[in-house]
Amino acid sequence: MSSSEARATKRLGASGASSSEARATNGLGASGASSRFPFPIPNGWFAVAFGDEIARGEVKPIRYFGEDLVLFRGEDDVARVFDAYCPHLGAHLGVGGRVEGDGLRCPFHGWRYDGSGRCAEVPYARKVPPKARVRAWTTAEKNGLVMVWRHAEGAAPSYDVVDVPDYGSDAWTPPERREWIVRSCVQELAENSVDAAHFRFVHRTNTVPVTETAEIRGHQLHVISHNVVSTPRGEQRGRIEIQAHGFGIGFTRFSGIADLLVVPCGTPIDADHTHMRLQFSVKKLPNSDATRGVGKAFIAEIERQFGQDIPIWENKIHLEQPLLVEGEAPLALLRRWARQFYSGVEAGAA
Ligand code: FES
Ligand SMILES: [Fe+2]
Repeated sequence: MSSSEARATKRLGASGASSSEARATNGLGASGASSRFPFPIPNGWFAVAFGDEIARGEVKPIRYFGEDLVLFRGEDDVARVFDAYCPHLGAHLGVGGRVEGDGLRCPFHGWRYDGSGRCAEVPYARKVPPKARVRAWTTAEKNGLVMVWRHAEGAAPSYDVVDVPDYGSDAWTPPERREWIVRSCVQELAENSVDAAHFRFVHRTNTVPVTETAEIRGHQLHVISHNVVSTPRGEQRGRIEIQAHGFGIGFTRFSGIADLLVVPCGTPIDADHTHMRLQFSVKKLPNSDATRGVGKAFIAEIERQFGQDIPIWENKIHLEQPLLVEGEAPLALLRRWARQFYSGVEAGAA
């Protein structure tokens, strides 16, 4: 066992599972621990769908946090997420289940669950077993996303989903989106945004962003940096504001030549895979062709960079004691901020 594995074992407190136990269950222990990274699936608000991917009355099987789930939109227009398996005989509610009112009817024997996940009816029995309920996840729909609150120990939400400033505003273009599935964990992807030096080597940029301020505000991480880009009109200074609100949602605003907004959402599929959803919006310029041009170039550039990051993410390991040098303090700060989202990881670890 390497020393990093030993550390990983020590830091997975919640289930007491060792890293080898986690591996024996196909990489996922009872705590949702990773076989590759020294932390379990984090807590917080995470996107499970774009809002328009689930119509009223529609039911979909989904899989996140190493768990099978069902996403549906009730007749009351509220998107809900339940655990997938019916407590009667284990049918998957997302495969053939039907929306009724604010809840779901199981496809197998027709037991009906209300919007809170409680079984309200067993069609062929007078009594409903008191234990007949499925876990209903706490959900919120904002910024074009259906979000769920995920907590390893079942704790209630400790913060609200941010209302992203200017999202959906008439002064900005309608959000465009892109998605990726990456074989890495959300923390590794989050670290990328504050890793200035990689821009030159992975993304081949001429300059790298310089951090002006970086601070932790509870569940939020705020980083403001600037960069200088060469344009046909000479060098232009740009400002980059990054806010992460937990691992699951945040936003980045670029201002300078144009005002740009990115809303990145990373959701753990399991401890080693992340579903990344990005939304892009541009502050409208007086000329709509110019706005379109800026938007296209902006999305193309982020797609290019994302494509370049993927092979690094998918093949790197997580070093708990990296060798950080001058200018890399934001990485250490991000790691300090990140610890609050892991159950069973000691506050003082790493
Ligand atoms: S398994 Fe769902 S009602 Fe029987
Ligand atoms: Fe990158």
